[in-house]
Amino acid sequence: MTAPGSLGCVYFIGAGPGAPDLCTVRGKEVITRADLMLYADSLVHPGVLRWAKPGARVLGSAGLTLEEIVAEMSAVARTGGTVARVHSGDPSLYGALREQLLCLEEEGIPWEIVPGVSSVFAAAAALGCELTVPGVAQTVVLTRLARRTDGPSAGDLRAVPREGTTVVLFLSLTTVAEAVAELLAAGWPPSTPAAVAHRVTWEDERCLRTTLSDLDVAVRREGWTRHGLILVGPALDPGPGALAGTEPAQARSSLYDPAFSHLFRKGRRA
Ligand SMILES: C[S@@+](CC[C@H](N)C(=O)[O-])C[C@H]1O[C@@H](n2cnc3c(N)ncnc32)[C@H](O)[C@@H]1O
Repeated sequence: MTAPGSLGCVYFIGAGPGAPDLCTVRGKEVITRADLMLYADSLVHPGVLRWAKPGARVLGSAGLTLEEIVAEMSAVARTGGTVARVHSGDPSLYGALREQLLCLEEEGIPWEIVPGVSSVFAAAAALGCELTVPGVAQTVVLTRLARRTDGPSAGDLRAVPREGTTVVLFLSLTTVAEAVAELLAAGWPPSTPAAVAHRVTWEDERCLRTTLSDLDVAVRREGWTRHGLILVGPALDPGPGALAGTEPAQARSSLYDPAFSHLFRKGRRA
């Protein structure tokens, strides 16, 4: 959506998982010229806040209601100003984005979304793993454990396909025992590789590797309750164990297989 004439624009910016240099060039450019920067408190790195131009208002959103957030943003955009609404990771994941867009639409305020690096990709990088390993996992499920108040659309881990899947759980460090119980009840082997990425790309980043059955104890031992992602699935095991039962030839992609032909390369016979 482009800002017409006299109205300003609200930009929903994904600031990335933490490290400021993982915010996109486009996101930084908007932040440096914004009149109001409204950010998701503890999840946005202080280094990103320092990009605000002199005189800009910089406001954490954690203590505000949706109505207050929208009122702050609309007030600036109505007078032709630029708002940087800064979310962590990518705004499209667990960012309460849609409700803000709907309110702005109702008020006729232009908006635009600037994508960001989600913590799921920063976690994969920190763990040094590919979430979709040929012959091991070709599906990635991003979810969270359902809370009692969530209703029928909430994540139900028992419904997640077990074969060839990497599951990534957001916002679930305080419900690890429940998550593990659901996955085990759905038939996931207790030995399934699991990992937790805590505050990835922040100065105090930590990652741990474990198995599904030991996941709860491992998280409680660390005392982590927030800012962590849980990843479960065979693709997480970097060793030969990940390929157990898989011939090495199956564990590589067809794309770079010398014998495989595609639009840009003719396959060679062995
Ligand atoms: C409100 S959600 C926002 C997710 C964000 N939109 C994204 O794409 O990463 C916050 C949750 O994302 C995960 N998260 C965000 N930043 C993280 C980081 N740096 N390290 C680990 N997990 C993170 C945690 O599960 C946290 O509870």
